[in-house]
Amino acid sequence: MHVHLSCVEQGGDVLVECWPLEAQARQDREERLREQALANKELIRNLAHEIKNPLGGIRGAAQLLEMDLPSPDLQEYTQVIIHEADRLQSLVDRLLAPHRHPHQVGDVNIHEVCERVRSLVLVEFPRGLEIKRDYDISLPEFRGDREQLIQALLNIVQNAAQALTERIAAGDAQIILRTRVARQVTFGRQRYRLALDLHVIDNGPGVPETIKERIFYPLVTGRDGGSGLGLTLAQTFVQRHHGLIECDSVPGRTDFRILIPLP
Ligand SMILES: Nc1ncnc2c1ncn2[C@@H]1O[C@H](COP(=O)(O)OP(=O)(O)OP(=O)(O)O)[C@@H](O)[C@H]1O
Ligand SMILES: [Mg+2]
Repeated sequence: MHVHLSCVEQGGDVLVECWPLEAQARQDREERLREQALANKELIRNLAHEIKNPLGGIRGAAQLLEMDLPSPDLQEYTQVIIHEADRLQSLVDRLLAPHRHPHQVGDVNIHEVCERVRSLVLVEFPRGLEIKRDYDISLPEFRGDREQLIQALLNIVQNAAQALTERIAAGDAQIILRTRVARQVTFGRQRYRLALDLHVIDNGPGVPETIKERIFYPLVTGRDGGSGLGLTLAQTFVQRHHGLIECDSVPGRTDFRILIPLP
């Protein structure tokens, strides 16, 4: 048991909180992850800028070279340079993307966000996938950036659908979108009286053990053709709402949980 003592703002009262060790360990872990994530983001951003600058030069030089080639056969090589420079450019753009989005605040109805994401993913996966709704319709609206939350949830639900390939083929793939109100929860070093508690649960194979601890880091992927940016971006957007994404995954059940403070 850990005991926390803190002064309550009014009246000079002292608040005594007793935490089970498990909750303390969780808080320490969250803290550590947050620090690592900040350091990582800084590194990635600097690196992306450094890569971006010379890329234009490389591409331009390859184009000039292409015009002066003695034999058109050699164009195959300049095309590789141009193509790969473009690929890197788009990767770097996506790495820098979250810092370019302004945060536009309005009233958010989380079920509208869920419905939007649900229909987008069902268009992409029209057969063999069921997306169940389990909504608590008493959830209040809150102030936030609707588009960013759609993007964050979309990245998570898309991952789930992509992980479900085998079950989609078998016809029993399932994703559940569950919304609840959480009361008296602590995350991100703060205690909140009310929070949105949104779960995306799938019955897929689970997050690969080898990357489980690092899935929110940029460029970490377990998927052929994945760029490892979806969850990083989702986490950034949710953090801008003072929230947090957690993951709990075993084979057969993967649960991504988004927590966002409510007024
Ligand atoms: N629901 C899930 N079930 C199993 N594995 C998952 C799930 N969600 C995420 N993962 C794993 O986490 C990895 C990282 O996900 P993330 O969205 O950050 O990147 P990505 O999907 O590989 O690429 P991108 O989203 O940038 O196209 C995935 O490649 C996948 O291995
Ligand atoms: Mg993804």
